[in-house]
Amino acid sequence: MTTLVHTQQADITTLAVEAIVNAANSSLLGGGGVDGAIHRAAGPELLHECRLLGGCKVGDAKLTKGYQLPARYIIHTAGPVWHGGMHGEPKLLASCYRRSMEVAAEQGVHSIAFPSISTGIYGYPIELAANIAVNTVSSSLAEFRSFEEVIFCCFSASDLAVYQRIIQAGLV
Ligand code: AR6
Repeated sequence: MTTLVHTQQADITTLAVEAIVNAANSSLLGGGGVDGAIHRAAGPELLHECRLLGGCKVGDAKLTKGYQLPARYIIHTAGPVWHGGMHGEPKLLASCYRRSMEVAAEQGVHSIAFPSISTGIYGYPIELAANIAVNTVSSSLAEFRSFEEVIFCCFSASDLAVYQRIIQAGLV
């Protein structure tokens, strides 16, 4: 079966997929950007569950329920802060995508949406990050077979254009 891999410009909290990924930080106790939007939309119970998780290492991912979101699950991952690219950032960012796919697959998730991890407050250049996102998800699909749909959810039209170009270039 082929998995539908596509990109969409949207607020990720509105997407009716089984799992959305949160670009969190290693405390898992909330923040700005997409993390703040997810906590606001899911409601205060999310923070209660997050407090029980004991944080998340950079490059790792942890699961919670979706509470008031249309999505059943939230997969929280802590992306790397961009420090110029020579401090393990590419490996850590790839690990965020792979671990998120792995955690989702453990729940038998069929549809998942990713934000553009680390490319907001954490400053990772969008072109470099989007290539890692698309390539890592693509190779994870061969390993984890439950997925029918993967969405790269972009907040801006310019990010959308970058992802579209990479996906259409046939890297997936
Ligand atoms: N839906 C989809 N994408 C969004 C949304 C949304 N509602 N809101 C923002 N984005 P960022 P990071 C995009 O900064 O760089 C937090 O404080 C945004 O335009 O949310 O990984 C955490 O707690 C950008 O393209 O995450 C951490 O401390 C992308 O999501 C830190 O920020 C990621 O931007 C993580 O920084």
